[in-house]
Formats: sequence, structure tokens, C-alpha cells
Amino acid sequence: MNNFKLKKNDLFVEDISIKKLAGKFATPFYCYSSNAIINKFKKFESPFRNSDTIICYAVKANPNIAILKILSNLGAGAEVVSVGELRRALKAGIKAKKIVFSGVGKKFSEIKFAIEKNILQINIESIEELELITKIAKNLRKKVQIGIRINPNIDAKTHTKISTGREEDKFGLNIETAKKIFLNYRSNPNLDIVGLSVHIGSQIMSLSPFKKAFLKIKNFIKKINKNEKIIKFLDLGGGIGINYKDEKIINFNSYAKIISDISNDLGCKLILEPGRILVAESGILVTRVLFIKKNKKKTFAIIDTGMNDLLRPALYDAYHDIQSIKKGIGRKSLYTIVGPICETADTFAKNKLLNRLNTGEILFFKNVGAYGASMSSSYNSRPIIMELIIHKKNFSIIRTEDTVLNQISREKIPSWVSKIK
Ligand code: LLP
Repeated sequence: MNNFKLKKNDLFVEDISIKKLAGKFATPFYCYSSNAIINKFKKFESPFRNSDTIICYAVKANPNIAILKILSNLGAGAEVVSVGELRRALKAGIKAKKIVFSGVGKKFSEIKFAIEKNILQINIESIEELELITKIAKNLRKKVQIGIRINPNIDAKTHTKISTGREEDKFGLNIETAKKIFLNYRSNPNLDIVGLSVHIGSQIMSLSPFKKAFLKIKNFIKKINKNEKIIKFLDLGGGIGINYKDEKIINFNSYAKIISDISNDLGCKLILEPGRILVAESGILVTRVLFIKKNKKKTFAIIDTGMNDLLRPALYDAYHDIQSIKKGIGRKSLYTIVGPICETADTFAKNKLLNRLNTGEILFFKNVGAYGASMSSSYNSRPIIMELIIHKKNFSIIRTEDTVLNQISREKIPSWVSKIK
């Protein structure tokens, strides 16, 4: 079912009119369709339903606790990369035994918290990290399940800033180092080194890099498990891309088939860490045109949302379709759509052909449910914006807008400043 429908000069998200919401609440705001998330999760999960697989949603894609709760109710676990994400996942009711903790730079306090909460697995990315975990676990008298994140040196053929599986990337450990870890740390009483993980990047559009990386991991597991089943958990990360602009996406069943082909004779429990694919298409960003400005070269549509609310275009030159809720009639014009932030990078589209835009008109960005709100900031002292979710005929605010007063209240002017002349 299409959860976003343009009709009668309005956009409906499920059964709710965006025109009405934009009349009730100040723009900009994020708005999600719960149905879109539910359907996507079910579709993604279905080929894995009869296998021993935990779908650990990558919280970084969208960490709102309402969204985590929806996914948790559907049976998802979580992949977290900070104590903040871990707290969110627990708060949303995700069981600790369904949570994996990844990331190259975990702090002492984060590791300690994760161990105290008895999460499923910590995926380590360096020997120093493993040493630190050992110390903390010893002090806490705990045994910690460990996964070793492998860097398979495979190019995921995606944007370089979100490629994580090449040798030059900071992520994971090479196979030789992993082998040494198995040899040297396996008998440690505070460690249970039973997992391998791999995540080669995000917004991946073809199966072949996955296939190559998974095969490398499979061969490694076969070697390690030759005489004794040492590796019992295989975490294959996330990374499936979505269609932002006429891109052909990976078929879930083919992805599942690759996974079943490589894992069927390994006898490992599987962990998958999808982020974007589960939530990206569920979200729009609703904004209004503030001003139209023309110069000799361009017509700018200046809108009320900026790169602080949606960073992806500025950071990765990412494409997000922008549409008006109004039905197009009459002549079209080329617009360069920009935000209010004082940077030229705050440009969302260049020379985009749109129906004549007017001041105050409501526009929306598509496919911003992943890495939209989660990457927002209060740059230029713009408050973090509201998030709403629609469920059939109901809408709920799932994050209120921050306020500037709230921002300022955390700041202090030291007393000595008053003496500066
Ligand atoms: N697992 C690990 C270890 C990860 O680092 C990530 C994403 C995922 C899973 C989920 O990947 P996904 O299924 O969402 O592709 N901000 C960027 C994306 C960065 C992804 C970082 N890691 C963007 O807006 O495109």
C-alpha cells in the first residue's frame, strides 16, 4: 500500500492531511508513516523468519523511541554504537539479549554499562578495545560475548564517506589479526569470543560486494571452526540501499538467498543490522517556501528547513526528491532550493524543474526517515525540529521541537567574564 498520496492539492500520509498538520504546527517538521515502517520490517524479515536470525535494527538510522518501540513490538533487536543508543533501545523495551554494540571508539563508561546490562554481544574493532573489555569484565566478574568485526577489504561501491569495508577505512580488523585474537584470547575466562561481524558500508545498490565480503567471512569461519565449533554467531551488518532517484534496489529475496547460501552449512546464529532500508521511505520533511528570489542566473526558493535539519545533501551531495503538495498547473520554472543556513552547502537542489512556487507554499522532502532527524543539529541556533508519526487516522508527536531557551539554559557565563573590559 502507498502510504503517501497526493490528492486535491494536499498530501495524505495514511489518512492524515499534511496541509492540516502544517496549519496546526509550525514547519519544518518530520513526519513518518507507521504503516510504512511496519510493512517494510515485515517484508524484510519474512525470508529470514524460519532461520535462526535476529534482526538488529541499526538505531543510528532513526533513534526515536517510538520508532524503536514499533520495531521492538515486531520482534526486532537493536544494533547500537553508543551508550545513548543503548539506553534508547532498552527504554523502548528491546531485550538486552537482542542488542549488539558496534563502533570503533567505545568509551570505558559505555562498555561498562553494556556489560552491566548483559547485552548479547560487543563487536570489537581493535585489540586495545578487547583488552579494555577484559579488564572491565574482570572487575565486574562477568563473561562477555564478543564478536570480532572483520574488515574484508571489499569496496562496497557506494559513496566514499559511507564505505566501511576497505583496508584504508578505520573499521574492523583484518583476518590475520582476528586469527591471532582467537588464538590468544579464547581461553580468557571473562571473554566468550564466539562471533564474527562484517559491515562494508551503507546505501549499497548491488549484491556483489555483499557476496564477496560474506564469502571471505565464510571461508574464515570454516577454517576456525574446522575442529571445534568456535564461531557461533555471524553478524552480517546492514547496508542495503533504497531508491532515492531512479535507482534499482536490491531484491530482499536475492539478498536472503545469498545469506542462506553462505550460512546454511555453518550452523551459526545470524544477526542482521538493517537501518536505512527499514525506515528511510517512511519519512518526509515538511517545509514551507519563505521567499522566492531571482538574480540573473537563478531563481532561488528559500525554504524554512536547512542543512541542520537534513544534512545528507550538504554532506554527501545526496539526492532527496522535493515536491509541492499542490497539484501542478501552468508553467514550470527552474528553482534552486536552499535553506536559511549561512553556508552555500545549504542547498538541497539545483535548477529543479517545478511548478511555479509561491511564498508560504508547502513542500516536502521524500525518503528522509533514515539519517534525517538522527543527523540533525542546532547549527545557527536553530532548534531541533518536531517529529510526528501517523497511524491510520491518528497523528502523534514523538519528539517535540526543542527551544532556543532550552539551548541557552545549558550555557553559563563565568563570573570572571564580567571583569573583562
Ligand atoms: N551496522 C553498522 C555497524 C553500521 O555502521 C551501520 C551504518 C549499519 C549497520 C546500518 O547501515 P544501513 O542499513 O543503514 O545502511 N549517514 C549516512 C549513513 C551512515 C551509515 C553508518 N553505519 C547516510 O546518511 O547515508
